[in-house]
Amino acid sequence: MSILLGSTAPDFKVETTKGPISFHEWSGDSWVFFFSHPADFTPVCTTEMGRTAQLSQEFAARNVKPLGLSTDSVEEHLKWIDDVNDTQSCDLQFPIVADPDHKIAQLYEMIHPGESSTAAVRSVFIIDPDKKVRLTMTYPMAVGRNFDEILRVIDALQTSDANNVALPADWRKGADVIIPPSISDEKAKDLFPQGWKELRPYLRMTKL
Ligand code: BEZ
Repeated sequence: MSILLGSTAPDFKVETTKGPISFHEWSGDSWVFFFSHPADFTPVCTTEMGRTAQLSQEFAARNVKPLGLSTDSVEEHLKWIDDVNDTQSCDLQFPIVADPDHKIAQLYEMIHPGESSTAAVRSVFIIDPDKKVRLTMTYPMAVGRNFDEILRVIDALQTSDANNVALPADWRKGADVIIPPSISDEKAKDLFPQGWKELRPYLRMTKL
């Protein structure tokens, strides 16, 4: 089974560094940034865990709960968190899933045998409050993720949902947005009374 965009994120019950969670219940009305790591006590992962902790207020401001995963035990995670806090100058408070038997990593197809037969690659799942998978990204083991992009795409998804718009390349909050071709000019007059700039009939830019 592939985890496709628009599908319901598989539910699971699991031990984490903040106690047992039932995923759908835990996520509640929030968005979730669910991200996997190859292993505890590895250098790239340590920087990514630290970056997520440093950005905790940015995630909270967007109603997003981070949830990490690495294929180690709660005891190992807790020791590693001390290192993360020390080396990355942060206070890591989000839960990290313990997945020593790879059950969740397999459920979410985080193990790519060409990279490693035991460790998870760097998967990202952005999941909305309806539990739908809205974005997936997969990074290789040796390359850390771009957290500016993770926050940007969350902003983009939330802006798209709230305003019936699409977002152009490299869009950032405050920049012009696109009126999707599925919205007729007639309907657009109601939805976008501020008007728009028509570069082509299929490319109409507006401001929010
Ligand atoms: C790391 O997280 O630093 C890492 C993990 C596996 C391979 C290479 C780097």
